[in-house]
Amino acid sequence: MRTALGLAWPGPDPRALRAAVAGRTVLVTGASSGIGEATARQVAAAGGTVLLVARTAERLAAVRAEIEAVGGAAFDHPADLSDPDAIEALVDEILARHGGVDVVVNNAGRSIRRPVDAAYQRFHDYTRTIDVNYLGPVRLLLGLLPGMRARGRGHLVNISTVGVDLPPPQWTAYLASKSAFEAWVRAAAPELRADGVRTTSIHFPLVHTAMSAPTAEFSRLPGMSADEAGAVVCRALAYRPRLVSPWWARVGGLIGDALPAPLDAALTRYHRTTRSAATAHDAATAGDEAATAGDEAATAADEAGAAR
Ligand SMILES: NC(=O)c1ccc[n+]([C@@H]2O[C@H](COP(=O)([O-])OP(=O)(O)OC[C@H]3O[C@@H](n4cnc5c(N)ncnc54)[C@H](OP(=O)(O)O)[C@@H]3O)[C@@H](O)[C@H]2O)c1
Repeated sequence: MRTALGLAWPGPDPRALRAAVAGRTVLVTGASSGIGEATARQVAAAGGTVLLVARTAERLAAVRAEIEAVGGAAFDHPADLSDPDAIEALVDEILARHGGVDVVVNNAGRSIRRPVDAAYQRFHDYTRTIDVNYLGPVRLLLGLLPGMRARGRGHLVNISTVGVDLPPPQWTAYLASKSAFEAWVRAAAPELRADGVRTTSIHFPLVHTAMSAPTAEFSRLPGMSADEAGAVVCRALAYRPRLVSPWWARVGGLIGDALPAPLDAALTRYHRTTRSAATAHDAATAGDEAATAGDEAATAADEAGAAR
């Protein structure tokens, strides 16, 4: 069942992973929790030096200490990827301290589930998601890619979602921002490959993490654990495929393009039946968002920006 749902992807052969990451510098964004934390631990266990990036400095320090305690090499670099100045400082710090990176795992992300009619007064939903999920990684890569390309080798792994293959309703801000970076990676890939830098996009189905937890219906659905998802990322690091995506997302995307009417009808039905749950979820997470450090300031800035 889990295999059929694309939830039981194999991990890497340990020797292949070690060959790919041992002695290499692997930057993982969003390494303070979930998929990023699990990936960082597994890469460090295979001999990679991991650079841990996220906002929560204490969590990053704890992950670094735990990696070091079992003999791994890790450095914590707290930074807010929605802040252009912070990214510039992060790039300077990484180049000065590590001389550059061999691998970037673009994993930090922000998701928002909110129907469009609940977002009429919330343009900042769109700026917040685009800042973290698209503009932040692009800015980071503009700083790190010159070194990777000059050395003639490197790997960019983008952590994305099956939602870019089959976009469900109620996730417009999240999916538009994830799709934007997905398009960036696809367009950049031939340019980067010409200089020895490979790219991989991973379209994850449900992974049970802090990100998916606020959506009550997800807790009842089968999904991967963060460790299982980390093993999928490690397999991608070992074998460097262009795309990792469950079969049903790829087939569903093709069928949706060829025969849009049944898919549109099913998604409209889904929206009608889940609209009230989405609105309840919206009310529940609005408080959490307000409590998130910096969000209020970001909202004010976003709204000021929107008004200009
Ligand atoms: N969970 C799923 O079902 C699922 C499915 C498909 C794809 N994904 C993707 O998987 C990736 C990881 O998500 P997850 O499920 O592991 O969720 P998670 O546990 O909530 O991790 C999100 C990570 O992103 C970091 N982050 C958020 N905003 C940031 C910012 N402004 N600057 C720097 N770091 C930031 C968070 O750290 P701080 O809060 O400390 O900054 C955290 O480490 C995301 O890109 C998500 O879109 C998840």
